[in-house]
Amino acid sequence: MKALLCKAFGPADTLILEETDNPHPKANEVLIDVHAAGVNFPDTLIIEGKYQFKPPFPFAPGGEVAGVVSAVGEKVSHLQVGARVMALTGWGGFAEQVAVPAYNVLSMPDSMDFINAAAFGMTYGTSMHALSQRADLQPGETLLVLGASGGVGLAAVEIGKAMGARVIAAASSAAKLDVAKQAGADELIDYSTQSLKDEVKRLTNGQGADVIYDPVGGDLFDQAARSIAWNGRLLVVGFASGRIPELPVNLMLLKGAAVVGVFWGSFAQRHPADNAANFAQLFAWHAAGKLKPLVSETFALANGGAAIDALAQRKAVGKLVVQVVD
Ligand SMILES: NC(=O)c1ccc[n+]([C@@H]2O[C@H](COP(=O)([O-])OP(=O)(O)OC[C@H]3O[C@@H](n4cnc5c(N)ncnc54)[C@H](OP(=O)(O)O)[C@@H]3O)[C@@H](O)[C@H]2O)c1
Repeated sequence: MKALLCKAFGPADTLILEETDNPHPKANEVLIDVHAAGVNFPDTLIIEGKYQFKPPFPFAPGGEVAGVVSAVGEKVSHLQVGARVMALTGWGGFAEQVAVPAYNVLSMPDSMDFINAAAFGMTYGTSMHALSQRADLQPGETLLVLGASGGVGLAAVEIGKAMGARVIAAASSAAKLDVAKQAGADELIDYSTQSLKDEVKRLTNGQGADVIYDPVGGDLFDQAARSIAWNGRLLVVGFASGRIPELPVNLMLLKGAAVVGVFWGSFAQRHPADNAANFAQLFAWHAAGKLKPLVSETFALANGGAAIDALAQRKAVGKLVVQVVD
């Protein structure tokens, strides 16, 4: 099969499309013929050797796919050959086939095509878990989303609206904010030209945001920590800016607020029934037209490095998808 391989840690332009051995599913795995693979921030890190997992060389990046099951291991009973599925792979998705543990595979809803399904699981799964189980977001509350045009950020905007919140989207350009507005954001803050803290204060009559969704970290987290409402929840989702911030905890004492960690992958493994219930709700919202995943660009498999590079360079909006089968 063909795969876009990382043979040594380095930038995205060092990935090479090559023929390689087809994977064989173990007893608890399914083999998927990949139709499309979503691009996510961890792809930018894994090829540089900066991610928590360092697969043996050569490996293909690509943490999530959508495709068709072509073989199942002997211990797998709930998935059949021919099923249309979406799966979390960790890596290996930028390839014509990938073997995945069956617990990381979901049947695709009829309302989705392969490209949408490849762009859905990681971002909507993360943001649903963050806003439901971790923040307990309530209708009428104010939700501030940082990096609001990015993968997880844009999903948080849509899910926040579906849950009945007033959503303030914050991002680094007018064009990115326009994307968040199309997704339903009520208010917009351009943090490349405006003070995040002052704008949140103004938009909330000095109260601050009840829930803050932060996939960016760094200086923005520092401002967000000063923009939280009484009894607020500050969700630590990621550090796309590259800096893991530190927090003077007196800020949280004064607001009776909580800093809440979000680790969706671990939640999905520890609480599969709750994760399945989250996806049942997400799929229902998708079928009802409340969630409209934005795939802003697709790339051929040979060009997957350019997709990873666009994400790393902060140029992507919504999701980028590598299309393996036309
Ligand atoms: N905790 C979890 O379970 C979980 C799950 C999935 C992802 N994540 C994390 O969430 C973060 C976002 O992932 P994603 O896939 O949504 O990425 P993404 O699509 O690239 O979005 C990240 C956003 O961060 C902002 N950003 C600020 N500084 C940046 C920089 N130096 N480089 C790139 N982006 C920068 C950008 O928005 P602006 O330009 O508007 O600032 C961008 O839209 C990552 O840290 C990822 O590891 C966490």
